[in-house]
Amino acid sequence: MFGKNTITITDNRTGKAYELPVESGTIRALDLRKIKTDENDFGLMTYDPAFTNTASCKSAITFIDGDKGILEYRGYPIEELAEKSTFLEVAWLLLKGELPTAAELKEFTHHVSIHTYLHENLKKLMEGFRHDAHPMGMLLSTVGALSTFYPDAKQIFDAKSRNHHVIRLIAKMPTIAAFVYRHSIGFPYVYPDNELSYTGNFLSMMKKMAEPRYVVNPVLERALDVLFILHADHEQNCSTNAMRSVGSAHTDPYSSVAAATAALYGPLHGGANEAVLRMLHELGDIKNVPAFVKDVKEGSGEKRLMGFGHRVYKNYDPRATVIKKLAEQVFEVTGKNPLLAIALELERIALQDDYFVKRKLYPNVDFYSGLIYEALGFHSDFFTVLFAIPRTAGWLAQWQELLSDADQKIARPRQVFTGSPRRSYVPIEKRELTRS
Ligand code: CMC
Repeated sequence: MFGKNTITITDNRTGKAYELPVESGTIRALDLRKIKTDENDFGLMTYDPAFTNTASCKSAITFIDGDKGILEYRGYPIEELAEKSTFLEVAWLLLKGELPTAAELKEFTHHVSIHTYLHENLKKLMEGFRHDAHPMGMLLSTVGALSTFYPDAKQIFDAKSRNHHVIRLIAKMPTIAAFVYRHSIGFPYVYPDNELSYTGNFLSMMKKMAEPRYVVNPVLERALDVLFILHADHEQNCSTNAMRSVGSAHTDPYSSVAAATAALYGPLHGGANEAVLRMLHELGDIKNVPAFVKDVKEGSGEKRLMGFGHRVYKNYDPRATVIKKLAEQVFEVTGKNPLLAIALELERIALQDDYFVKRKLYPNVDFYSGLIYEALGFHSDFFTVLFAIPRTAGWLAQWQELLSDADQKIARPRQVFTGSPRRSYVPIEKRELTRS
């Protein structure tokens, strides 16, 4: 009886037993449909509003063990990649499944660097945004607009075309992001410098003024590259789910990345790094930390310690550990961000407070990243854009995987209908009377 990869469910409504296969620790939700009270019953479904216990796909890209605080891309620990790899190498790894050879990396880097320019009309489109438009609003609109410049991107089952647009997206995201930034501060756009590294070129487009060539500080260039590695993928999070969901309708990759970017914008997701900085600025001084933590605990959930907690990690987010160390290296060049002391005190108090300990709330990737971004001179409303650039590689890897997965179809969840049963139309003059 035991040792079989099946589960037997007894329906106490009918007394019937059903034996369902178990595969990789899951049962197929559709198998539950066989469980019916009678012929006319639709069959059993699961109710899982935030996908808290539902695997929406099989994936070979990113592995997380939230209890142990483990994150791996294609089997490689994030700590090792952050120490030894580069963002473009990691992007290749996510997309192709293996680390590139020297020749493959050279070719990939070359292709990415020759696709960094934007169509001039896109610049005109960006000029239409108000001076105070949020950078994420500009980013997601502009990347969506790219789909109109590349109508052949609809050929999503043509591997050659798909690869071409994957490279274009990885190459153009930093350019769009930098143009968004320059627009928001009223500075002229700086065109890509294809001789520089991926992050060196990005910093040049962000910072260059009158000098003939922007001189990149190697510590800051590497720090940004490491931040890009850490943010490149994170399995089935909200924005990746958006990418897969929209992509499942066979939408082109530019529109799908725009949808994923919109999901990332939210303060519970990629917008949290901006919210952390706002919180630290509002706190202003270490002495205000205890009262703030008390407020969070007593506020029945509406006030949160931003940058803390995670749906999957019930331990220290391994990315936060790397970022905390990275912050020290960056601060040696830029000078210490005075908000660091407040962040460290928040972390110290929270990690020994029963409320946070009981709920397993630890610092996540967003808790320290904003401090580095601020030290690099970026405005807090630009932080999520800095998350979107590298995550594009992860979104595209997940999208490619979706397209080659025979199990996948258009994403279309079910619902539990709680509305009115069928009723007849009520003429307007009688409506007040019928309402209870
Ligand atoms: N501060 C205070 N309490 C919290 C926090 C927090 N940051 N996060 C969760 N809780 C409490 C929550 O009130 C709930 O308490 P109770 O059981 O008494 O109702 C309990 O912990 C479980 O929280 P949840 O909202 O059910 O957990 P979730 O898995 O749905 O939410 C989360 C995960 C990341 C949205 C949440 O922890 C949060 O809002 N954190 C702050 C925002 C943040 O830092 N987001 C970045 C996430 S990491 C990067 C990314 O994914 O983009």
